[in-house]
Amino acid sequence: MTSPTDTAAWAALAAHHAEIAPRQLRELFAEDPGRAARMTHRLDDFLVDLSKNRATEETFSRLLALAEARGLPAAIEAMFSGQRINVTEDRAVLHVALRADAPMAFEGRDVVVDVHEVLGRMRTFTTALRDGSHLGHTGQTFTDVVNIGIGGSDLGPLMVCEALKPFWREDLTPHFVSNVDGAHLAETLKRLDPERTLFIIASKTFTTQETLTNARSARAWLVDELGDESAVAKHFVAVSTNRQGVADFGIDAERNMFGFWDWVGGRYSLWSAIGLPIACAVGMDAFEELLAGARRMDAHFRSAPLAENLPVLLGLLGVWYANFFGAETFAVLPYDQSLHRLPAWLQQGDMESNGKRVRKDGTQVRGYTTGPIVWGEPGTNGQHAFYQLLHQGTRLVPADFMAPLHAQHALGDHHDKLLANLLAQTEALMIGKTEAEARAELEAAGMRGEALEALVPHKVFEGNRPTNTILFDRLDAKTLGTLLALYEHRIFVQGVIWGVNSFDQWGVELGKQLAKKILPELSGDAPAGGHDASTNALVAHVRSARRG
Ligand code: F6P
Repeated sequence: MTSPTDTAAWAALAAHHAEIAPRQLRELFAEDPGRAARMTHRLDDFLVDLSKNRATEETFSRLLALAEARGLPAAIEAMFSGQRINVTEDRAVLHVALRADAPMAFEGRDVVVDVHEVLGRMRTFTTALRDGSHLGHTGQTFTDVVNIGIGGSDLGPLMVCEALKPFWREDLTPHFVSNVDGAHLAETLKRLDPERTLFIIASKTFTTQETLTNARSARAWLVDELGDESAVAKHFVAVSTNRQGVADFGIDAERNMFGFWDWVGGRYSLWSAIGLPIACAVGMDAFEELLAGARRMDAHFRSAPLAENLPVLLGLLGVWYANFFGAETFAVLPYDQSLHRLPAWLQQGDMESNGKRVRKDGTQVRGYTTGPIVWGEPGTNGQHAFYQLLHQGTRLVPADFMAPLHAQHALGDHHDKLLANLLAQTEALMIGKTEAEARAELEAAGMRGEALEALVPHKVFEGNRPTNTILFDRLDAKTLGTLLALYEHRIFVQGVIWGVNSFDQWGVELGKQLAKKILPELSGDAPAGGHDASTNALVAHVRSARRG
């Protein structure tokens, strides 16, 4: 597979970067009164303002040429048409089928029929849970749902549940346990009534150490508390692609398992039965709205011209900063507290997808970087923590700011203040403050002489820090679905440009293998040793210190 750096489009972008790098966004706005309007895109109630980027019309046309040179339109079609684009696992990548409302053929079969069959079962189950007709072992209704999963079997449903908290029922609370650190499960169980607690064991493979360990402990807790092994049948359901694994765990796979398929990647699975805790918390109608929102973005991604295609434009801007400006990270800054787990979800989505150092055909990535480090926190909290570095640090950190225009609460002027802060931050990052402005400000405050000169450099903001602003009407299930699919497809776009397989995750395996070897060494069941000197010494220390 060719390297993107071998294309004429890449060379043209490198030359263009030399022209753009010294330009100030202030000047670009001053020179071009139509810039903001022209670089703002809309999709229904979504407004995406790209104008505060270190880019001109020429930049966009050169980035789009790169997308064409890398075969992006054909790659999009390959995904939607069910080709086995996850080459190292020989799998199709069809999470878009999970939210489709029209047939999608995969190897001669309409997979949407299968998807809808599971959605129907999820509806039956969650309706009975929510209307109180599905009862626990002792005849009580359920008040708490504990999802036990990790990675994609945790972060997606957790993030969505948090985002849709205003739509939860007061009498049914979702909880999420992921960490193999027993404190996570223990602290969760402490507050729960076993008679009224449902466990969802969510694992695509049903082999994940953390999830199975937590599931076994949860099961032991339930059986111990209710004093009856048969209680498991009423209090445990599984979501998995591994029927045998579910049955081996002791969950009736016929009645109490919700399936999905190997063409759903873990980090793209919240739209499948992995979303069961979401449906428990907000109801199946809202879950289907979430799917409808994602479907809207899927249709846009598949059919909009590249020059107007939101995931394409956002993905290309990410490439522009990562590869031409050398940006190492990408900040996601939701001005909406309910999106506080969005950065964590996107970390897995982006970093597990595009954190690769070989291309699809195994050739080494050389001369360019792939997936950036993704991070973020909700505004305005971030402003009082790390924005200092964004404004005056030595690194370039491209950032996405996003907010709903309307809040899901009616508290005074909080939302106006939230929005004012978002707009102020993107303006400040872009416009900065020159030395002359800083000096004038200090003089106006009465400062003179040496004291003034000493302070001026600290008061200067370089500006020229690029941001995207994404605004939407309000954060309901449909809007959320659209927003999440936007980021999923942005990841895809970048993977295509970089030539990597965005759908495998071999990099998580080595640590898992070594942990398996070390575990029996810690308890003394297996002889320690055979590691490097540092690890040998640490294992020995843990063994002896814990024994003492
Ligand atoms: O961390 C590796 C990984 O395989 C992720 O890709 C996945 O989301 C997570 O583990 C959980 O896997 P499973 O759903 O099979 O338990």
